[in-house]
Amino acid sequence: MKQEFISIDRAIRKEKGNVAVRGWIYRERGSNEIKFIVLRDSTGIIQCVLPREKFKQQWEDIDKLHIESSVEIYGEIKKDKRAPTGYEIEVNKINIIGKADEFPIQKDLNEELLGDRRHLWLRSQKMSAILKIRSTVFGALHEYFRGKGFYEFQSPVIIPGGAEEGPTLFEINYFGKKMYLTQTWQLYAEAAIYALEKVYCIAPSFRAEKSKTSRHLTEYWHTEMEVAWANLDEIINYAEEMTKYVLKKVLKKNKKELEILERDIKKIQPSINKKFPRITYDEALRLLREKKKINIKWGKDLRTIEEEKLMELYDTPVFVTHYPKEIMAFYKPREQKNPKTARCFDMLAPEANGELVGGSERDINLEELKKSLKAKGEKLEDYSYYFETHSYGAVPHGGYGLGTERLIKWICGLDSIKDAIPFPRTVSRTKP
Ligand code: 4AD
Ligand code: MG
Repeated sequence: MKQEFISIDRAIRKEKGNVAVRGWIYRERGSNEIKFIVLRDSTGIIQCVLPREKFKQQWEDIDKLHIESSVEIYGEIKKDKRAPTGYEIEVNKINIIGKADEFPIQKDLNEELLGDRRHLWLRSQKMSAILKIRSTVFGALHEYFRGKGFYEFQSPVIIPGGAEEGPTLFEINYFGKKMYLTQTWQLYAEAAIYALEKVYCIAPSFRAEKSKTSRHLTEYWHTEMEVAWANLDEIINYAEEMTKYVLKKVLKKNKKELEILERDIKKIQPSINKKFPRITYDEALRLLREKKKINIKWGKDLRTIEEEKLMELYDTPVFVTHYPKEIMAFYKPREQKNPKTARCFDMLAPEANGELVGGSERDINLEELKKSLKAKGEKLEDYSYYFETHSYGAVPHGGYGLGTERLIKWICGLDSIKDAIPFPRTVSRTKP
């Protein structure tokens, strides 16, 4: 009878008896008499022992196996304290499936070279752990929104212009005509709420920003939501609940991966139970002045360093609301009680991770919208569809956008956002 292959983690859970596993050689060492292979698959690693005695015919091939060669292994699994995962397979039969050349990634490659070899580096323990957590995060986001009765709604990636802020758009040549890659799904989503009321989407957004920071990509996965009838507090509630939902899922499903990443989970645990503080921009300036001796002129946006300093005061994300109206996107409405500010928020994360979420109520006052656009030097005709959207039964509404990789970076405790996405695109990284 042919034995069925099982995953390495299942083989380990079986503890004893005959097993068949397959995967890639993670480590190998040996002598003239015996070969040790540590085999990995997507679920784990296990040590396999091959005594020369048993493999006289094949020994030359076995002896020459490099790491990353793929093999099928049949043998008996046993407890063994000395083995890396506490179990070992005494191999009875090995099929060599794909021989590997000398693997071009050694221990001391720098970040640049690992970036060039990203297609191979994905196989590392570190990257696999991040990719598994990333998958949990995406799944949890879909679950969260669908569980709350949201419809998944898609917008075009190629847009004619008229979006968040002109200068950061990527231009493309569209049959001789200038078109752009989208930065946000929002303006289309605002049309959709009149049909579906609650919509969300997880899709790539593009930003032609020349920011070479540890939190900027030129292509990132944007998790966006838009809700009819919702006010600022309600939108913020969603952002908080969503974040907690994702954190809980990851802590439940990915303990092993967080361990591989040596993530101190005490840094994320408080965010599961504690309420995220909500402060205004004015309060943020006051805190920075009093606790951090940083003076910011009213009306200026918070810079990265200032956000980081502010977040040193907290161990959970914080919502900063009511930024100055003049420096905000055109669609963020004026706060009637304090007209120099807008009904908007950013959710900042601890540990120097900065802004994870940006959101607001949306202005449905067409005169105000036109005034703001003009002040920003935008062409009103580019937005005619947007005005029309809100000309037939406009209702209060709002939404937000989450930088999904920024959330992953925080959860995993990564130094750079580049590791939060399989094949990053930044100003300088365009390959592979
Ligand atoms: O704050 P932003 O620009 O807001 C919008 O685009 C709104 N239209 C969203 C909405 O209300 N539907 O972007 C939202 C989030 C930021 O908070 C940040 O986390 C992320 O997108 N983001 C980036 N992530 C990675 N690399 C970049 N270059 C990013 N730019 C923004
Ligand atoms: Mg923002």
